[in-house]
Formats: sequence, C-alpha cells, structure tokens
Amino acid sequence: MNRKLFKSIREYKRESILAPVFVILEVLMEVLIPLQMAKIIDVGIQNGDLPYIVKMGVILVILAMLALFFGAKAGNYAAIGAAGYAKNLRHDIFYKIQDFSFKNIDRFSTPSLVTRLTTDITNVQMAYMMSIRLLARAPIMIILSLIMVLTINIKIALLLLITIPILGGILIFIAKKAHPHFVQVFDEYDVLNNSVQENVNAARVVKAYVREDHEIKKFHGISTVVFNLFTKAEKIVAWNSPTMQFTMYTVILFMVLISSEAIVTGTMETGELTSIIVYALQILMSLMMVTFVFVMIMIAEASSDRIAEVLDEIPEMEDPADAVKDVPDGSIDFENVNFSYAGKGGTLSLKNVNLHIKSGQTIGIIGGTGTAKSTLVQLIPRLYDVTEGCVKVGGIDVRKYELEALRDQVSMVLQKNVLFTGSIYENIRWGDEHATDEEVQRVCKLAQADGFIQEFPHGYHTQIVEGGNNVSGGQKQRLCIARALLKKPKVLILDDSTSAVDTKTDALIRKAFREEIPNTTKIIIAQRVSSVEDADQIIVMENGKINGIGTSEELLKTNNIYREVYESQVKGGAENE
Ligand SMILES: Nc1ncnc2c1ncn2[C@@H]1O[C@H](COP(=O)(O)OP(=O)(O)OP(=O)(O)O)[C@@H](O)[C@H]1O
Ligand SMILES: [Mg+2]
Repeated sequence: MNRKLFKSIREYKRESILAPVFVILEVLMEVLIPLQMAKIIDVGIQNGDLPYIVKMGVILVILAMLALFFGAKAGNYAAIGAAGYAKNLRHDIFYKIQDFSFKNIDRFSTPSLVTRLTTDITNVQMAYMMSIRLLARAPIMIILSLIMVLTINIKIALLLLITIPILGGILIFIAKKAHPHFVQVFDEYDVLNNSVQENVNAARVVKAYVREDHEIKKFHGISTVVFNLFTKAEKIVAWNSPTMQFTMYTVILFMVLISSEAIVTGTMETGELTSIIVYALQILMSLMMVTFVFVMIMIAEASSDRIAEVLDEIPEMEDPADAVKDVPDGSIDFENVNFSYAGKGGTLSLKNVNLHIKSGQTIGIIGGTGTAKSTLVQLIPRLYDVTEGCVKVGGIDVRKYELEALRDQVSMVLQKNVLFTGSIYENIRWGDEHATDEEVQRVCKLAQADGFIQEFPHGYHTQIVEGGNNVSGGQKQRLCIARALLKKPKVLILDDSTSAVDTKTDALIRKAFREEIPNTTKIIIAQRVSSVEDADQIIVMENGKINGIGTSEELLKTNNIYREVYESQVKGGAENE
C-alpha cells in the first residue's frame, strides 16, 4: 500500500500495535491446545486416569477461554485502529479539498472525489484491519505449529515444509491473476458513480425531458460492465478454495500413511496423530488467510494510489510569505493579461486584456455567451491565476495578498450559484458569520430580497433545501447578492446575477447600490443592456478580447456589437418586459 497514507494513522498507532500483540497471545494459546488434547488421549485415556483427564481438561478449557479473550481483544483493537485510520484519512482528504483552487477542482471530477472519500477509503480500511489482525498471525502460527509437529514426527514436518511454499505459490499466483480485474472494477465504479450523481442531481431535468428510460438504460449498461468485471475477478479467486481443499486432503492422506507406520512401530501415539492433524489444518488455514489478505491488499493498492493522488495534489494557490492583508481601495487593473484554463501553452480564453477601473466605479460587461466574461472577472478574486500579465486590486498584484483578505474585499456572486441547506439567516451569514439579524435584514433590503422573505410564513427562518430548489430562480439570485453584500466588500462582482429578476426589481437593486454603497466598485455582467446602460464604463467582450470600452452613449456611436445588441433589445421591447 502507498506508504504516504500511513501518516494518517496518528493517534490510532496504539490500537494498531496492540492488535497484533493480542493476536500473538491468541496464537500461543491455540498452539498449546492440541498438545493438551494429545496428553489427554495418550496419557489420560490410555491409562484410564480420570483425575488426570479432569485436570488436563480444566487446563484445556482455561487455554481455550484465554484464546477466545485474546482473539476478541485483537479483533476489537484491529477494528478500532482501522476505523480510526479511515476516519483520519477522510479528514485529511476533506481538508485537502478545502485548499483546492478552482483549477485543482477542475482536475478531479466530483464523483471521483466522492468514490475516493467512500469506496476507496473503505478498501484501505478493510485491508489495514486484516493486515494488523492476520499478517502477524499467519507466520507465527505456521512457525510454531511446524516446531510442534517437528517434536512429534520429523517426516511429517518435512512433508508440511514442502507443501507450504508450493501451496503459497499457487495461491499468490491466483491472487495476482485476479488483481488487474479488481483494478478495472474500481475504475468502472467512478463511471457508475458519475452516472448516478448526474442523474440524481439533475432528476428534475431528466423528468422534464422524459429521459428516464434512456437514463435507466445507460445505468444498466454501466452496472453490467461492473458485474462482468467482478464476475471475472471472482471466478479466478474462486479457485482458492478447491485448491486448498485438494491440498489439505492430499496432505492429510500422506500424514495418515506416515503416521500409521509410526504408530505400528511404536514411535508415535494416536493422540499425537490428532494433534498433528490439527496443526496441519492450522498451517493450511493460515496460508489461506495470508492469500486472502494479499488479495485485499492488492485491491486496496489501487485505492490507496487514488487517495494519495488527492493528498499529493499541490494546492494551486498558497499565500505568499509576507502576504498583504489590507486591500487599500477598490481600483482594478488588468495589465497585458493572457489566460488559458489549461495553463501555459493552452488555448487562450483571454487575450491581451488591458483594463483600468477606478475605485467606486460601476462597470458593465456585455457580450455573447462564451466570450469569456466570467473568465475575466474570476481573475479578480483570484479564483484562477493569470497565465501571463498581472491583475491588480488596489494597485497591488492579487498574488501578493493573503487569499482570505482579498476574497473578503472582492465579493463575487458566481454565475452558477448555490445556496446551502439551512435557514435564510444561516445562508446569508456565509458572507459574515458574526453579522447581527439587523445587518442581515439590511443587505436583504438592498438586494430587494426583504419583501419576499417577509412573505414566507417563517420569514428569515425559512429553511432552504437542496441548493435552493424551494425558492424561485430570481429569489435565489437576490439571496446570493445579499450574501455577497454582507461582506461589505470594496469590490462587488455580479456575474449575470439578475438574469432571472424582472427589470423593475433589477433597476431597484442598481439604485440601492448607487445610494447605499457608493464607494464600492461594482462590476455587473449582464445580457440585458438595461442592466448596464447607466454604468460609468461598459466593456464589450468578444472572443476573449475587449472589443470596446466606454459609456453607453459613446459605444452607441463607436461600437457595432453594442449598437446591435442595444437596438435588438430596445426594438424587441425587451427593456419593457
Ligand atoms: N473551467 C473551465 N475549464 C476549461 N474551459 C473553460 C472553463 N470555464 C469556461 N471555459 C471556456 O472558456 C471560454 C469562456 O467561457 P466563459 O464562461 O468565460 O464565457 P462567458 O462569457 O461567461 O459566457 P456566458 O455568457 O455563457 O456565461 C469558453 O470557451 C469556455 O468553454
Ligand atoms: Mg459566464
């Protein structure tokens, strides 16, 4: 297994050590028991010595009870150790994901992260539990049992000594054959989870398009692939048991042959034969367990690599050593900015962007879909880093700020926004967890959300469910704006955040901004000209480039794209909808 993961064992080291210690004690007891049986048969029964039989019987029971006690203890410690280890691993991955930048998140798909947090960790947990329980047990059991057999009959000991490596070899061969199939199974799990997650997330869309049959077929297809792969792997592993049985009976046959000769010549007692058979069984069982653990470890191997991949991911953005904590003002500058989602050398989504925005200005951004409007503004709170050039806020390169300080001052309402499960109060307080009820209500008034919230039966205590499915699209957008306002940012970015709000309310929101937060720089991306018409500057985007900058009046004279959009919307009556 990937060694790096062992760091996460931490406070569960004690259990992880105690488990094998108790396993060893258990094995010692189990090895003594057959010896005791032999004594009862060979001495007690043969001499008809009842007190001796009782005495040895009592010792036998005590040994058996001790074995039970130690075994239970070992199982307990192994379970706690492995579950604790899994808990720590889950914590570590979760913490790591919190540090991920948007770019890091782009690299792993959500279902794949979920598989890693669940199935993969469970595999590692199982393998770890079996390892600390069984890996100590098997070799000690084999060695001690062999020594015991050796004291009784050298020939049989030799027979076992030859059988062990042969059988072990065959079992490991089987496990190795099955391994690639198991690896494939877990990769296929990702696809399966992906399908389930997409379907469940988009259940409403699936229903609206009556695509249930298609989705069921798709799911059935993937689950058949998983079924086939699993069957293939298990078919190979199924050879374990018959191989074991065959070897076991063959060995016992030879043992009886050898022993009967020894018993006839008087070098061996019948009781000793019984105990030898028990020892032989214990050895073979131990071998079987080792291969079982071996298979489990191999399955977990693939899982542990996938976990390590997340833990090893280098967070794209970290605070610089002497990070700036104060954003002086809300001015924004783009200097020769090039940006590609794929990093250097990839196709550029933003090309040679130069831009100067004064603190407190209202900026509108307009342009067709896919013209990189969202991409442009995402560079301001440093959701992504520029590929070339630099972005400054308050005259300082955004990469010089402490991330938290920067994002507290640059508040952004994302285009694809979500609310979280909890009350409206709780949701708005994502912006500032210490805000009073009055402050929450004030920003909701600003975002024109107070009105409809008051109309809910539970008002501000209304519970939001499932990312905000129980409020309307326009209501959700206004709640998201309120949440962003609560931060009292120096820069407020609205990425198409009023698209579902009617024009009248949209105008009221802008009026409130003008009056209540005049010193905040406001950047508004919109499809509607009316949303940006009164801005100090309007930026027209086209194909990742700035096509024109100016006031509405200026652009009407100089910019074709703006004029076309303006005329189509005004003539189409979109302004008065
Ligand atoms: N996370 C991402 N990874 C890779 N490419 C992306 C990513 N997000 C956007 N793009 C690409 O970058 C380009 C610009 O997208 P962007 O989202 O900035 O457009 P937009 O102007 O905001 O469009 P819309 O008006 O539809 O919101 C598009 O070609 C898009 O495919
Ligand atoms: Mg966009």
